[in-house]
Amino acid sequence: MKTTIPFLVILGLFNCTSPDSTMITSVPSPSENITINFSLQEDGTPSYEVMRGETPVIQPSTLGFEFQNQAALMSGLEITGTDTGSDDETWEMPWGEQRTVRNRYNELVVHLQEKEAPNRLLDIYFRAYNDGVAFHYHFPEQQGVDSLIITDEKTQFALTGDHTCWWQPGDWDIYEHLYNTSSFTEIDAIAKRDHPDLNSSYIPENAVNTPVTMRTPDGLHLSFHEAALIDYAGMTLRIDPENLRMESGLVASDRLGYKVKRVLPFSTPWRTIQISEDAAGLIESKLIVNLNEPNKLGDVSWFTPMKYVGIWWEMHLGISTWDMEGTQDMSTYTTDQVTGSKHGATTENAKRYIDFAAENGIKGLLVEGWNTGWDHWIGFEDREGVFDFITSYPDYDIEEVVRYGREKGVELIMHHETSAAPRTYDQQMDTAYALMQSLGVHSVKSGYVGPIIPKGEYHHGQWMVNHYNNAAIKAADYQVAVNAHEPIKATGLRRTYPNMIAREGLRGQEFNAWASDGGNPPEHLPIIAFTRMLSGPIDFTPGVFNIKMEPYKEGNQVNTTLAHQLALYVVIYSPVQMAADLPESYEGQPAFQFIRDVGVNWERTKVLNGEVGDFVTIAREERDTGNWFVGGITNEEARTVTVKFDFLEEESEYLVRLYHDGADAHWNDNPNSIEIEKIEVFPSNEMEIDMAPGGGFAISLIKQ
Ligand code: NOJ
Ligand code: CA
Repeated sequence: MKTTIPFLVILGLFNCTSPDSTMITSVPSPSENITINFSLQEDGTPSYEVMRGETPVIQPSTLGFEFQNQAALMSGLEITGTDTGSDDETWEMPWGEQRTVRNRYNELVVHLQEKEAPNRLLDIYFRAYNDGVAFHYHFPEQQGVDSLIITDEKTQFALTGDHTCWWQPGDWDIYEHLYNTSSFTEIDAIAKRDHPDLNSSYIPENAVNTPVTMRTPDGLHLSFHEAALIDYAGMTLRIDPENLRMESGLVASDRLGYKVKRVLPFSTPWRTIQISEDAAGLIESKLIVNLNEPNKLGDVSWFTPMKYVGIWWEMHLGISTWDMEGTQDMSTYTTDQVTGSKHGATTENAKRYIDFAAENGIKGLLVEGWNTGWDHWIGFEDREGVFDFITSYPDYDIEEVVRYGREKGVELIMHHETSAAPRTYDQQMDTAYALMQSLGVHSVKSGYVGPIIPKGEYHHGQWMVNHYNNAAIKAADYQVAVNAHEPIKATGLRRTYPNMIAREGLRGQEFNAWASDGGNPPEHLPIIAFTRMLSGPIDFTPGVFNIKMEPYKEGNQVNTTLAHQLALYVVIYSPVQMAADLPESYEGQPAFQFIRDVGVNWERTKVLNGEVGDFVTIAREERDTGNWFVGGITNEEARTVTVKFDFLEEESEYLVRLYHDGADAHWNDNPNSIEIEKIEVFPSNEMEIDMAPGGGFAISLIKQ
């Protein structure tokens, strides 16, 4: 329900925010805890600020654009009118971390026009939520301008202090850098740019990727990102340490020589700032999805959230290879244990995984390396026309695998590694998705490893944004859901297209198998939960039990305890959750019971506590069963957290199992030390739970 509301809009010729501003108009959030003030400076430069009560959160920050072949639109504007509105709707997620979402905000639209010729028009939409703010630009239809070529967006975010920041370098190709923790003025993306495992990255300036999360000296938490990234370039944020300011830095197309080209009318993505008193509130905020349009696909019940296993980790460990030829080998160890072809994706191996999945109530099987082209993958420049998304290797009978899976209640998850050759993928997409539909396969993991072909395009530029979005929209026509790796960032589009189920877009578990820097440190996921996870579901692939990876990878390991791995099924949200390890690694492991039991689709989520980079505890209630699951993780420090069970129903009984670090557990020295206890809990209980360094805990509460 959209209504016009009578909240205060001051529009007058007086100074309010900064000495040279002349016009001010404001919009408060529904609870009036947050206010956005828009003003026009004396020279007609648009500017906004954000207040929390009487305290500034964002200082006056200017807005504008630079274009190819026409003057910038940054000053000389006047307000020709304003509109206000509000909305308070509750919508349902077809699958998600909660069933219903309340979308409640006040809106202010400012209509601007250049005072002098060519008198161009620009509208800016501001939305004030109780959990943050957002704004986007809209270029309405106008005389004399049919289309625009944007060379830079000049959106500023002026901070109120030298906040603590959790950031990763503003990479135009990948989001797989580690997050850094530093004060704002110490952000140095260039120094963190080079990484031996990330040679496809391109970072032209000192900028950060979004989401970037901050804590102010007063303890307020902020996270900057974008929502509804459609037909536009991804936004990095340039760092200006002297002025304590960030400015939008759009990803370019060096091939085309600009950043964005659009025909009018069009709107930019929303620029978002989530604001919360505590770190936990950032995770509970639904601002990003709320800013997206409602579901355009209708019923997507053909996709069911699921746990899955895969012919996958064995390639990362170097036990098998993606290609039949055996050239794409990740092993540091090639011993005589390997006989004959090391090809992982064989019919026989797939059946072995299906048997394992079926025995353990796991509904999906991912098979990588099933199709031809893998011998010409990493390290090859000429990747156009190489991968074939229809033709199986001769030792893999896809129809038989699908048939066998169906018999056992396990659905195949297709894999399409495009090797960052999107034009080749575009050509085959219809046929490939049609094949999936004919087989009754409803989800695909896609991949975009390597520099984009054609040269001069980047993973996060407008051209690729369109590729990723169009691929998912097309997939929906064939009842296919998409989990993209090396993706464009999540910006809440899963609300509009609920077949966008998950994505990578972070340093996943795979780095632990082969990263030359020792893998993901214990603080990795306690940071991710408050940064990357704010943007949307993550295919992290948790659940490695053979933490030291012996004997396959003597020099690598997972840098967490086993209990921490279990907790990730609850902490890191995704509607598809992998049990990543080899079936044999789970054999005889009582802790595997948690993975069997844990839900993947949630009625509600409660973030019980947490501090960015330190620890986090999340409780989630499974849809339809009423079972609850709790997960907690810590960084390299041991700590004790208190869990209150007041989220449980008074009248219900639960069978409760607690999986926690053993007294001697340690991510490096003793990662597999775990204790499993049956306990009794009541809603009035509080429990103190110890976590080891790099540790965690998981609780299953099965309703009786
Ligand atoms: C990188 C992906 O992140 C990984 O999961 C996959 O196995 C390889 N690419 C091959 O596509
Ligand atoms: Ca990857």
